[in-house]
Amino acid sequence: MPTIRVVDRDVEVPTQGADPILFVLLDNRVTITSICGGNMSCGTCNVEVVEGMENLNPPSDDEARVLERIKRQGPNVRLACQCVPRGDVAIRIVPED
Ligand code: FES
Repeated sequence: MPTIRVVDRDVEVPTQGADPILFVLLDNRVTITSICGGNMSCGTCNVEVVEGMENLNPPSDDEARVLERIKRQGPNVRLACQCVPRGDVAIRIVPED
C-alpha cells in the first residue's frame, strides 16, 4: 500500500492510491488548509513534492493555472486536492504567506 510521508510533520499515512492527497491527509487528521474544500479554486492546499513525483498524475492545465495565479509555480509544487499518489510520495505542506 502506498504511503504519503509529510516531512514537516514527521507523519506517514497509508493510501489506497485512489484519493487525492488532500483527502487522505484530512482523513488521517493531518491538518492542511483547503478553503475551497478541494474544488481547485483557492490554491491554499499547495504542497511541495519532495520525493515520488513520478508516482503522481501529471498536473492538468487548470491546476497549472491555479498555481500560476497564486504564484506557487515550480516543478515540485502541486495542489494536494488534485494529485493522486499511486506509489510512495513525500511532501512538505507549504506554509501560507
Ligand atoms: S483545496 Fe482549494 S485548490 Fe485545493
